Amino acid sequence: MEKYEKVKEILKKNNQEQLLVCYDKLDDQGKEKLLDQILNVDFDLINKLFENTKKPVDVGEDKIEPIEYVDKSKLSKEEYKKLKQIGEDAIKEGKLAVLTMAGGQGTRLGYNGPKGTFDIGLDTHESLFELICKPIKNANKKYGITIPWYIMTSNENNKETVEFFEKNNYFGYPKQDIIFFIQGELPMLDKEGKILVNEQGFLKLAADGHGGVFESMLKSGALKDMNDKKIKWVFIGPVDNPLVNMVDPIFIGVAETKKCMAAGKSVVKARPEERVGVFCKRNSKPSVVEYTEISEEMSNKRDANGELVFGESHINCNLFNIDRINEIAANKLPYHEAFKKANYIDKNGNLVIADKPNAYKFEAFIFDAFQSMESMAVMRVKREEEFAPVKNAEGVDSPETARELYINFHKKLEKVRTQEMG
Ligand code: UD1
Repeated sequence: MEKYEKVKEILKKNNQEQLLVCYDKLDDQGKEKLLDQILNVDFDLINKLFENTKKPVDVGEDKIEPIEYVDKSKLSKEEYKKLKQIGEDAIKEGKLAVLTMAGGQGTRLGYNGPKGTFDIGLDTHESLFELICKPIKNANKKYGITIPWYIMTSNENNKETVEFFEKNNYFGYPKQDIIFFIQGELPMLDKEGKILVNEQGFLKLAADGHGGVFESMLKSGALKDMNDKKIKWVFIGPVDNPLVNMVDPIFIGVAETKKCMAAGKSVVKARPEERVGVFCKRNSKPSVVEYTEISEEMSNKRDANGELVFGESHINCNLFNIDRINEIAANKLPYHEAFKKANYIDKNGNLVIADKPNAYKFEAFIFDAFQSMESMAVMRVKREEEFAPVKNAEGVDSPETARELYINFHKKLEKVRTQEMG
């Protein structure tokens, strides 16, 4: 009872008393869970986030400039050899860990399950997880080590994801070297700043965005595990790109020689309106201008050679030095709000089905971490070799386009291998 009274007081103070609307209907265990959920809410943060929703997003004041990059395909033979050596040495010494961000749901894809379990329709019917796993397994064989593979899931999909790995015998990867951890969540708010109650009578929580990766690495112990293993570089990549190249010695070599604490891979933006963020310098610091944020003028700006001035697309394939991750994890990244549809139980206990966006969701973006870097190495890679995003059910960035890119790339690889052997 003491706990209940304490919670009531907190809720009154924060004007969130609707959160107990279903309390009486819950069993004892449910009651405890709800009270604990409420006690875990950082109301100061929630109040701040709600205040921010009233302020317009303004990038107008920021000084945005293009960023320098290294073109992987234009490196001289000597440079390539040198960078490869540096990267391979780091990998062989066990300094690399790879991390897959798999907390998102395939909403746009219209798929009801963890995105990594999605089958893009290859003859083999391999899932995205399996396709991503294969090159890491090959690298392990090549370098005679086992690279630890961290997988960030969300509360929503963790159980299903782990079961999928078990069912598939971890795709032949050593089980103890795959480490799952769950990303953080934040409550969803209505237009008045009230936290929503979900259909089960608990708080309506949503994943806090892939920028939550650093904080959840810290809280879950994954970061400690990396530090204990003396990891130096962590490649953080998406689950929805079957061509993601996580073990790339050249990439590590570039970051090492440029003495940067982070590096990001880019591909040339296909067309001004492509839905990708672009690397830039924002007030002299590395950054990404997201596709939702970029002006038409900026998207279309071309240089004397006809190339897009802001044409280095961010493909969510980034490398971070562990020392910097330790620092970033201890501080929060900013949150961006999105206005979404969310069903909820209202203050009278009635279920409200949303037919239009009605609630704020808050997400941190991984690339906001770049702003804390003095400099960052951007490496341009070939789209057809490393970028086959699976975002939409049909059309651009769909299973169909990704499948084609995947098949063509592997045909090309096979040809090169045959030529080398011949
Ligand atoms: C993202 C990038 C964009 C980039 C594009 C390339 C953002 C905000 N934008 O856009 O700059 O050009 O990819 O394809 O990231 N994820 C989680 N937890 C979350 C949210 C996402 O793990 O809470 C994971 C997803 O599972 C996925 C990755 O992060 O692996 C990308 O997320 P998504 O929201 O699909 O990003 P996009 O809007 O496509």
